[in-house]
Amino acid sequence: MAKIIGGIGSSHIPAIGAAMDRGIGDTPYWKDFFDGYVPVREWLRREGPDIVILFYNDHGLEMFLDKKPTFAIGAAPEYHNADEGWGIKPIPPVTGETELSWHIVDELVENDFDPTVCQEIKVDHGLTVPLSLMYPGNSYQGVKVIPVCINCERHPMPKPSRCYALGRAIGAAVESFGGDQKVVVLGTGGLSHQLDGERAGFLNTEFDRECMDKLVSDPEALTAYSIEDLVEIAGAQGVELNMWLGMRGCLTGRVREAHRNLVAPISNTAAGLQLLLNE
Ligand SMILES: [Fe+2]
Repeated sequence: MAKIIGGIGSSHIPAIGAAMDRGIGDTPYWKDFFDGYVPVREWLRREGPDIVILFYNDHGLEMFLDKKPTFAIGAAPEYHNADEGWGIKPIPPVTGETELSWHIVDELVENDFDPTVCQEIKVDHGLTVPLSLMYPGNSYQGVKVIPVCINCERHPMPKPSRCYALGRAIGAAVESFGGDQKVVVLGTGGLSHQLDGERAGFLNTEFDRECMDKLVSDPEALTAYSIEDLVEIAGAQGVELNMWLGMRGCLTGRVREAHRNLVAPISNTAAGLQLLLNE
């Protein structure tokens, strides 16, 4: 059966893509951030996963406020991105994994999740930036990607408990898939940040560290928060923690934290990175 070997939480902010394109990763502002990715890239190179399941949110490229699925999953043979106006260069197409996508869809619907199924969808920086970070020089041609999209833009948003449960259902679906593929799950976005309003620039790194601790030892404790709690404690866009919870939900066994980094502020966010091994 397919096996989930680990999960990675990572920032996905567009400024990272622009910094990679401009080759300024070694400047004082970025160095600690990019240095944090070296061990994760090495782990990925060593393990060579066949499939990446990637939780992200669409910031308006394909799903704007007028049509916003709560949960969506890609079932396309290939995914393209497009210019979002952030100055990030488009990346080469990402290869899909339709067979496992459809298996996950079948299992989700059977288990009372009803995602929007996307057989054609453009993917934004929420997906492309972490992929480019994990695979330097966009060297992700050998890996197949399944995008899982969670609404983090328009209220009402799914509760953290629901996103964790979605991850659990996806994890169970992967484990029941009759292949021998190695799967890695990425939860992207966050951590604490607020981009607009009176509290623009707000960060709460103490809470971010607590979340990263709980993601290792007691993820269910994080499911007690409501969306309103997260907005208050972690900022309006701190709700992107939901993607990290989806990732953690997929990890079926006990986990061990193999690597962590938290740098703030990076483009007005607390930029987290965490590698969790599924034991
Ligand atoms: Fe985001």
